[in-house]
Amino acid sequence: MTTKEIREKYIEFFVSRGHKEITPSPLVLENDPTTLFTSSGMQQMVPYFKGEKHPMGEKLVDSQLSVRMQDLDEVADNRHLSSFEMLGNWGLGSYFKKDQLNWIWEFFIEEIGFDSERLHVSLFEGNKDVPKDTESYKIWRKIGLPENHIHFYDVNKNWWARNGAVPSNMPTGEIGGPDSEIFYEFDFIEHRPEFGSFCHPNCDCGKFLEIGNSVFMEYVKNEDGSLSELPQKNVDFGGGLERIAAAKNDNPDVFKIDMFSGIIKRIEEEIGINYNSDPKKDRDFRIITDHLRTSCNLLAEGVIPGNKLHGYALRRLIRRAMFHCHLLGSGISGSGISHIAEDLRNHYPNVDKNWDFVEENLNTEAVRFESALKRGLANLTKAVSDGVEIDGKFAFDLYQNDGFPLELTLEILSQNGMNFTQDEKNAFEAEFEKHRENSRVTSAGIFKGGLENKSDETITKLHTTTHLLHAALRQILGEHISQKGSHITAERLRFDFGHPGKLTDEEIKNVEDLMNLQIEKKLPVTFKTESLDAAIAKGALHFFADKYGNEVKVYSIGNFSKEVCGGPHVENTKEIEHVRIIKQEKIGSGVIRIYAGIEK
Ligand code: ALA
Repeated sequence: MTTKEIREKYIEFFVSRGHKEITPSPLVLENDPTTLFTSSGMQQMVPYFKGEKHPMGEKLVDSQLSVRMQDLDEVADNRHLSSFEMLGNWGLGSYFKKDQLNWIWEFFIEEIGFDSERLHVSLFEGNKDVPKDTESYKIWRKIGLPENHIHFYDVNKNWWARNGAVPSNMPTGEIGGPDSEIFYEFDFIEHRPEFGSFCHPNCDCGKFLEIGNSVFMEYVKNEDGSLSELPQKNVDFGGGLERIAAAKNDNPDVFKIDMFSGIIKRIEEEIGINYNSDPKKDRDFRIITDHLRTSCNLLAEGVIPGNKLHGYALRRLIRRAMFHCHLLGSGISGSGISHIAEDLRNHYPNVDKNWDFVEENLNTEAVRFESALKRGLANLTKAVSDGVEIDGKFAFDLYQNDGFPLELTLEILSQNGMNFTQDEKNAFEAEFEKHRENSRVTSAGIFKGGLENKSDETITKLHTTTHLLHAALRQILGEHISQKGSHITAERLRFDFGHPGKLTDEEIKNVEDLMNLQIEKKLPVTFKTESLDAAIAKGALHFFADKYGNEVKVYSIGNFSKEVCGGPHVENTKEIEHVRIIKQEKIGSGVIRIYAGIEK
């Protein structure tokens, strides 16, 4: 069964059970600084779990590419990826445990055709705040699961909140709940004792593979540390498309599925070695394949390699992919990397549509890195042979002068039998933090995976300010201004738009004044739900027309601005107080980036 068939079957299955198919989120979420990239299908659902009405209804389904780059080292195994497609269905106060568990079981057994004897499920064992999930236990038993296929675990395994939080470290206002995971058992794999005295679904020996997770999203964290029930009981399901395909192949290696076979074949052709012919080289194959998929999808959404935030993450992926091409001893050159990646056009319409942009930026970054790689390798090899001490400072200088990422230094050191201590890694990080712009935002939140606390209010203000900025730019510079990207953290907003050159000081001042005038006017911010066609006919700005569903929310700021948007926003512009444009940059040909913040 191909990944395309599985994806289509899943969507059809839930649509035929009353769900509306929604459009997945962009990979860079505009107003959610909790993660660098969209890392789960539920991220766009947060306000709706809390009771707001979703314009498409109370039963929703989609497939969301989810980027999880927290630990790139894991990608080298046979089941971890830097991005994966999450099949998602949501019940927003409309159905709960009984329907969800029956449906998902029916989907896996009847539609995918799994042998029920290979499936195991896990459940929350309960703690002082939340009871043991005996309700789901009874449902699974009624469905027919034998007792020894139902496993109870604690909060570390069967509680779900964003960023892996458990009740004790969920920030105030964060939502979460107990969950029930489904695992596929590769019965031909023998448990290995180095992973524990006995095997169970969450054992890391590779015998079991998690393929789906039904979260019962029903709690919110209070300021005093306790949990309260949300106003409605929600279902948040996420299934890993690539893993379901691997389980269907009855082969635990996700890199053997059809989605990746085209890339792997092209690497094989280029280097004349087959995947799985040399275990040492398999790691290189996997990293190249995985990183190219994530990179091409990020590029297709307009992310450009750079030194900060999203651009930096993308740069790391492309550079690592190139480095592993180098390790394969291949003739794959920077300018040839797009040839390896091109099969992705068959799987991702957005990559296909934006291929010229993807190809140009992928190759440019890869070629640039090739020169860095040559210089860095020469410097590092010389230092190793001269017996120079390679410490955190040395690694940082290599990064700073040659663009040589730490992980590549570590890789080369380990090939020479040398390893960094944690202190040396920390020394590198310390140097790195000193130099990286935005280091406070990155280190405080998204890179370390922690949630920002008490920042929701500022983010909401900055989101409304983004609409003000957009409308002001159009009034001052002209109607050709179109949004290319937007990102908000607790400190600032960032807005990219098409315009031939940087703004003059006077234009910046006029834009800023026009925004502040709307704040002084105390304009109401309101929204209406209507069809996308009606919204467009009324002149509402809309940026990913192909990304919206039929019914959309249209936010108006007085008569000053009208945009299709999911929210949330302030109720009145007076809440923003005062805004200031911090700086502008030209980030590409015809693309200008503006940073703005709120002043008290
Ligand atoms: N939100 C859940 C997850 O990401 C389904 O695993």
